This record gives sequence, structure tokens and C-alpha cells, in this order.
Amino acid sequence: MTRAPSLSFILLLLLLHVSVSFADSSIYNTFLDCLHKNTDPSDNVSRIVFAKTNVSYTSVLENYIRNARFNTSSTPKPSIIVTPLKESHVQASVICAKSIGVQIKIRSGGHDYEGTSYVYNPPFVILDLFNLRSISVDIQNEVAVVQSGATLGELYYRIWEKSKVTFTDFRQGCVPLSASEAI
Ligand SMILES: *[C@@H]1O[C@H](CO)[C@@H](O)[C@H](O)[C@H]1NC(C)=O
Ligand SMILES: *[C@@H]1O[C@H](CO)[C@@H](O)[C@H](O)[C@H]1NC(C)=O
Ligand SMILES: *[C@@H]1O[C@H](CO)[C@@H](O)[C@H](O)[C@H]1NC(C)=O
Repeated sequence: MTRAPSLSFILLLLLLHVSVSFADSSIYNTFLDCLHKNTDPSDNVSRIVFAKTNVSYTSVLENYIRNARFNTSSTPKPSIIVTPLKESHVQASVICAKSIGVQIKIRSGGHDYEGTSYVYNPPFVILDLFNLRSISVDIQNEVAVVQSGATLGELYYRIWEKSKVTFTDFRQGCVPLSASEAI
């Protein structure tokens, strides 16, 4: 009799684990379904959504983790990672996450040592913007249009390329800021 509680506890844990995995795969299927409906069919959006079971999931997740404290197996993980290739994919992702009722964390690739762009209470979704990093610099009109995933280093380089102006006054050090953080 004394063993009964621990056995039911183990069963409960097992059940919880199964239901969490089920929730993740259900979020993946529902989200992808919604994304297909809200994007151009030729965009083939299945290639921008990474399920937890996908072999590339871990490397995509770890690529922009800058703080080893959050690089552990016990750190809460997103149900899916969405990697938009176009602005319309961002809009559709927001619509779909809202319709499922799941929280979005947006990651632009900057330092984020607090992990706020990729750590949250599950279930949540990461909108990873590393593909959206185009920079156009118009020196004549002194305007630069920068997408969120670009890093500050990339922005400086593009400005230098066009103007030969360097940014020694910025004193950025070696912190990999995303360009959106600096604007
Ligand atoms: C992993 O996910 C990517 C992006 O959705 C997809 O292109 C690829 O086929 C998936 N790989 C496997 C083994 O499911
Ligand atoms: C869509 O993406 C999947 C997964 O990457 C790929 O297998 C498939 O051939 C693609 N379809 C088209 C029409 O590009
Ligand atoms: C996170 O862990 C992976 C695998 O252990 C490692 O390759 C990567 O360098 C780590 N990243 C950080 C920021 O600690």
C-alpha cells in the first residue's frame, strides 16, 4: 500500500509528459494549418515552422542564445519556432498565434542576456527574425531602412560601404546588439 502513491505519482508525471508533447504537436499542426490559410500557397510556409521533434529545432533555438544560463535542458522551450522569410509571414504568424491563444516571443538576434526573447512559461512560440536582416542605405537622403534581424555590426558595415563613415564614437564594444535595439 505504501507504494501506491508513488506509482500513481509516476503515472501522473508520465501523463503530464504525454499531454505536454501532445500540446506541442497540436500547436504545430493548428499553427501550420492557420499559416497556410493566411499566406500565399507558393510561399510553402511549412519550411519556416520548426516543431520540437524536428532535427533542426535545437540548433535553430541555440543559434541565438547568448547566455549559457538559458542554454540548458531545464530551460522552458517553445512549442514551435517560426522563422519568417517575408514581412507577410510575420503578420500571419501574429494572427495565427492569437487565434490559438499562445504567447509569442520575438527574437531579433541581439544580445538579450536576460533571455526575454526566448524564455517563457510554456506553451509559447518563438518568432525568430534572423532571416529578416536586409539593410538599405540611402546616403543622399540620409535614410537607412533596416530589418529587425540585422545586427548593429551589419548596419555599420553597410553604412561604411556607402559612405566610408566609421562609427568609432559609438563604443559598442563586442556586444552583439541587434540593429533594432540601437534605433
Ligand atoms: C524540419 O523543419 C524544416 C522547416 O519546417 C523542414 O523543412 C524540414 O523538412 C524538417 N525536417 C524534418 C526531418 O522533419
Ligand atoms: C515545400 O517545402 C517542403 C519541405 O521543405 C518540400 O519538401 C517541398 O518540396 C516544398 N514544396 C514546394 C512546392 O516548394
Ligand atoms: C549552447 O549549447 C550548445 C550545445 O551544448 C553549444 O554548442 C553552444 O555553444 C552553447 N551556447 C552558449 C551561448 O552557451
